[in-house]
Amino acid sequence: MRLLTLETTCDETAAAVIDERRRVLGAVVASQETLHARYGGVVPEIASRAHVERILPVIDEALRRASLKIHQIEAVAVATSPGLAGSLLVGLAAAKALAVGLRVPLVAVNHVQAHLYACQLADGPGVFPAVGLVVSGGHTNLYECQSPLEFKLLGSTIDDAAGEAFDKVASLLGLEYPGGPPIERAARRGRRDAHPLPRAFFREDERLEFSFSGLKTAVRYRIAPAGTRLEDAAPLSESAVADLAASFQEAVVDVLVDKCRAALARCGLRSLCVGGGVAVNGRLRERLQEFAAQQDVDLHLAPPALCTDNAVMGAIALERLEAGLVENLDLDVLPGLERG
Ligand code: KG4
Ligand code: ZN
Repeated sequence: MRLLTLETTCDETAAAVIDERRRVLGAVVASQETLHARYGGVVPEIASRAHVERILPVIDEALRRASLKIHQIEAVAVATSPGLAGSLLVGLAAAKALAVGLRVPLVAVNHVQAHLYACQLADGPGVFPAVGLVVSGGHTNLYECQSPLEFKLLGSTIDDAAGEAFDKVASLLGLEYPGGPPIERAARRGRRDAHPLPRAFFREDERLEFSFSGLKTAVRYRIAPAGTRLEDAAPLSESAVADLAASFQEAVVDVLVDKCRAALARCGLRSLCVGGGVAVNGRLRERLQEFAAQQDVDLHLAPPALCTDNAVMGAIALERLEAGLVENLDLDVLPGLERG
């Protein structure tokens, strides 16, 4: 079985060829980071246009790396939810055209579930049942996952996603976009306890939700006190940036680890899967490892290369295919996050 997977949910155009043993035969990610950097965030219209330009060359390159021709592909999978509507449609249109042209099955992938499947690709099928935490630029979601086909949403953010908070705070601190990596770098030189910052719903076990907008606002007021304008604030010294970055990062990590603890307790599970772009963060990984060691939890972290958006994690489509869950041409995109 040679499966072609496509990923165009946000600002990465990606394709991969994977076999039934989940081996990656060829994979490509064309990032649009530089196109969006000057706007400090993803511009949906620019993203969908860039996907249109890149999707075919990206598929060609994935096939070339796999040393395969397109007619050797036996199934096509595409991420159809959640994501930016215009971006999702580009991947879906390409996938449908290929499925019809090649007369092969079409499989739908849920992008957030795929982020968690990256843990199974790394550690094997024993990762499920598990609590899953997806932390990315668009999502901060906790799931109860009984199997790679059963995901129950336990809670998500009521405002910003964790990655979005990293991106916005980086912008406040004068750091580049995307904000996660430069904040992590700056934080290494800063004091985590320099600023007491808010931690929403911390240790409120009945709420498996997140909120990061108050934290972001608190950072803003540390830079320019209430009643003063951000534009009028004195430039921050390198050590001031480092202290704010370290304090902010610690606040985010505290909440993420605490909610994993609460979700594991609620579900009575001992396995924890963590994926998504923010799961690259070294401090988050370190704190999760400490927590797992103390609480005797089986921790499964997606490998860094499979944390940010990619098509390899679309291998979750093989689980659906093996269960007979194939789609017809009515398949549509579902940009919003499904509940339940
Ligand atoms: O999963 P992803 O590539 O795209 C979405 O599906 O959103 O995640 C991108 C997000 C960005 O917000 C970026 O700032 C964040 O992941 N990120 C990080 C780090 N690397 C990327 N956040 C914290 N620390 C990092 N090292
Ligand atoms: Zn993602």
